[in-house]
Amino acid sequence: TTIPMRDQLQRPIRDLRISVTDRCNFRCTYCMPKEIFGDDFPFLPKQELLSFEEISRVARLFASLGVKKIRLTGGEPLLRRDLPVLVGMLTEVEGIEDIGLTTNGLLLKQYAQPLYDQGLRRLNISLDALDPELFASINGRGIKPDLILENIKHARDIGFQIKVNMVVQKGMNDQEILPMAAYFKKQGIMLCFIEFMDVGNDNGWSFERVVTKKEIYERMASSYELEPLEQHYYGEVAKRYRYKDNGAEVGFITSVSESFCSSCTRARLSSDGKMYTCLFASQGYDVRELVRGGATDEQILAAIRGVWEKRADRYSDERTEQTAIRRNKINMSYIGG
Ligand code: GTP
Ligand code: 5AD
Ligand code: SF4
Ligand code: SF4
Repeated sequence: TTIPMRDQLQRPIRDLRISVTDRCNFRCTYCMPKEIFGDDFPFLPKQELLSFEEISRVARLFASLGVKKIRLTGGEPLLRRDLPVLVGMLTEVEGIEDIGLTTNGLLLKQYAQPLYDQGLRRLNISLDALDPELFASINGRGIKPDLILENIKHARDIGFQIKVNMVVQKGMNDQEILPMAAYFKKQGIMLCFIEFMDVGNDNGWSFERVVTKKEIYERMASSYELEPLEQHYYGEVAKRYRYKDNGAEVGFITSVSESFCSSCTRARLSSDGKMYTCLFASQGYDVRELVRGGATDEQILAAIRGVWEKRADRYSDERTEQTAIRRNKINMSYIGG
């Protein structure tokens, strides 16, 4: 290992979120609206994507700079051919203690077992509603929640640790908060409520459509007794609570109402090999160019260190109506959330 690095706000690097594809089999209204991500949308051609060998090398270099945790995202990561092979390769990287995958769950029937066999243990599965018509319209593909719920059970039976992510939007799915809570409480699966964020340029965000943690918590408190839990580790994103009567957990991701930039230890790698130091960045650093240009490990390490040590991002701390409508942000489906 090398000398630990800190950014301009003294934040260490701990996590690397790797997007493995910019494609998705859903068209969620708040992420990849159909009108923009249509048949002629210019998704990345295969040769632009980092290969598994390239991803593993970059991950190994990040690990030597302090990264302990890898999260695989997309688009929809299960659309990347042979993803379990990549998982197997990443479990071999020295220093990586935790690998997670964020998915919409649609392809888990097919991939849960091979992923588990390659060493994956944690899945974050997105599900925004239990109401069939509503969920079908949010995901833009007419997919019914039963299919995802089946796949969640399947993955749980295999042995995965599962978290369910629900993006809450006012006037869209906020009436689903309590039904979702009841369902996953009973299943003993952690449900995470995510405040709707102004990522990308095309998702119709405004402050009025955010349901804050406080509002969600108050609704929850009218039906359940909750107690707060200590954070698991420095920089944990979700604020966690436990139901007093059965020990199941819920979480809140409060990027809008209580930002968590001061302990943000995350770097992001897009599927075409650009490094981003914030979810709301407008520019990335081209790591692929170095990798494909024959740079040595030392040269790549120096470049990554340089980017991290210059980092001063704290977008959510500074969010205003003005920054939220700035239209040069990277799309969520590209950078991976
Ligand atoms: P674990 O804690 O490892 O379970 O994962 P996670 O909750 O960090 O990752 P996940 O992919 O499930 O993301 C949940 C939500 O948190 C998504 O909406 C992400 O966009 C959001 N999120 C994750 N990291 C950040 C961050 O650094 N900044 C902001 N603003 N949002 C983030
Ligand atoms: N705000 C908050 N979360 C979002 N996600 C996608 N778009 C947004 C948004 N605008 C969520 C997905 C997934 C996770 C990676 O990010 O639903 O659970
Ligand atoms: Fe696909 Fe996830 Fe975006 Fe929905 S939120 S379109 S499932 S990447
Ligand atoms: Fe980190 Fe940027 Fe999210 Fe703040 S807004 S927590 S700096 S990724």
